[in-house]
Amino acid sequence: MSGPNDSGQPGFSNQRRYRAEGQGWDEAAPRRAAVVHPELRSRDGASARDPARRLEEAVGLAGAINLDVLHQEAVTLSKPAPATLLGGGVVERLHDVVAAQTLDLVIIDHTLTPVQQRNLERALEAKVIDRTGLILEIFGARARTHEGRLQVELAALTYQRSRLVRSWTHLERQRGGLGFIGGPGESQLEIDRRLIDERIAKLKRELEQVRRTRGLHRKAREKVPYPVVALVGYTNAGKSTLFNRLTGSDVFAKDLLFATLDPTMRRVELPSGREVILSDTVGFITDLPTDLVAAFRATLEEVTGADVIVHVRDAAAAESAFEKQDVEAVLESLNIDPDVPVVEALNKIDALDADERAAAASEAARLDRAACLSALTGEGVDRLLSVVDEALSRRRAIKRYDVSLADGRALSWLYEHAQVVERDDEGAVAHLAVAIDPEDAARFERRYRRAAE
Ligand code: GTP
Repeated sequence: MSGPNDSGQPGFSNQRRYRAEGQGWDEAAPRRAAVVHPELRSRDGASARDPARRLEEAVGLAGAINLDVLHQEAVTLSKPAPATLLGGGVVERLHDVVAAQTLDLVIIDHTLTPVQQRNLERALEAKVIDRTGLILEIFGARARTHEGRLQVELAALTYQRSRLVRSWTHLERQRGGLGFIGGPGESQLEIDRRLIDERIAKLKRELEQVRRTRGLHRKAREKVPYPVVALVGYTNAGKSTLFNRLTGSDVFAKDLLFATLDPTMRRVELPSGREVILSDTVGFITDLPTDLVAAFRATLEEVTGADVIVHVRDAAAAESAFEKQDVEAVLESLNIDPDVPVVEALNKIDALDADERAAAASEAARLDRAACLSALTGEGVDRLLSVVDEALSRRRAIKRYDVSLADGRALSWLYEHAQVVERDDEGAVAHLAVAIDPEDAARFERRYRRAAE
């Protein structure tokens, strides 16, 4: 078993991992893990959410970065122990579990102070990461845009810096040095801090630069000639399952045009024949540590530019309503254009009994744009696509174009991509009124150098 201070451990000593695209863990990183969810007994009785569900969620998060979770438990704390958060008895028992199962990582699904983290590592003889550390790992593996990666690295370094400052092994080392910044007696701690500060300053400059050039990126994005449909949803709602069902990797293999696009963005044809880019996003998480909000938003960058948002919900989850509120609150904070339609996908109906199905169906009927489905079996998926199609159609505007009858290509392009609602041929010119998506209108006008009347 590897000890707590080996290199290649999860945590933030190895920044390389943040730059490896979508890779997650290093080969050398530990995988045999325990997940512990400490539930603080609240003063006013029961907590709002079910600890078993919270534990399940944390285990799901660990699974998302390919950890092998061999032990999981929820523990109730009447009051947090200052040195280790968990009580002495729990720590002892966990130590035995770690030893018996040769685990090398313990995830505590709670915020730990640097001192608590270090004490637990000593006591458990395993690497320990807290909830913030775990979520940072996930964001690190999922951040795709340049800005997203920078934001995640910034959050990770800020987190690491706080661990360095207060970590007592470093303080011990510091005692041996003279402590003059920049001088020969400079302590390891100060070198580490200085390196981190320099990197943080550099990241902030880079982020500033990225923000300044964001307009340019958006221009490049406009060249993608299809509307973007973003899947969002709570972690474990079934976004990836739905994404895979709708895209199918064999479709993509032939789709060279998009081979350079992100693997989580793929082209999909809707029932009307309209093509869209479907974009998968990182899952939402309860009680996102506030330090991570900026990083999380950056990983959701695609959502702010989407033409339709599909909110995938786990209709079988006991806490579906809570989860919906969380997702909606975050979406609101992203300053998304209020005109962008949100379609609700009530997923996992295969796991519902007849009464629950009826309840989900009536909820979908009450909502303006919603569909019940199972990403697993495929039931209802076509209906979802039709709802998305319809939501996009509502964005269509009527445009009028005059097209020469000799220009067969322009005419057939319009018939293929828009709905011709009026046509009046006069001499050699067809006067057309078409209902057309804004992107298609821009494409048509660019390609055939025509302005709408
Ligand atoms: P994150 O990546 O954590 O954001 O999760 P996600 O929303 O992408 O969920 P994912 O597709 O990974 O699915 C989570 C779990 O739900 C998996 O075990 C799926 O097999 C399961 N699942 C997804 N869709 C369905 C469904 O329609 N029915 C049932 N019964 N299970 C489903």
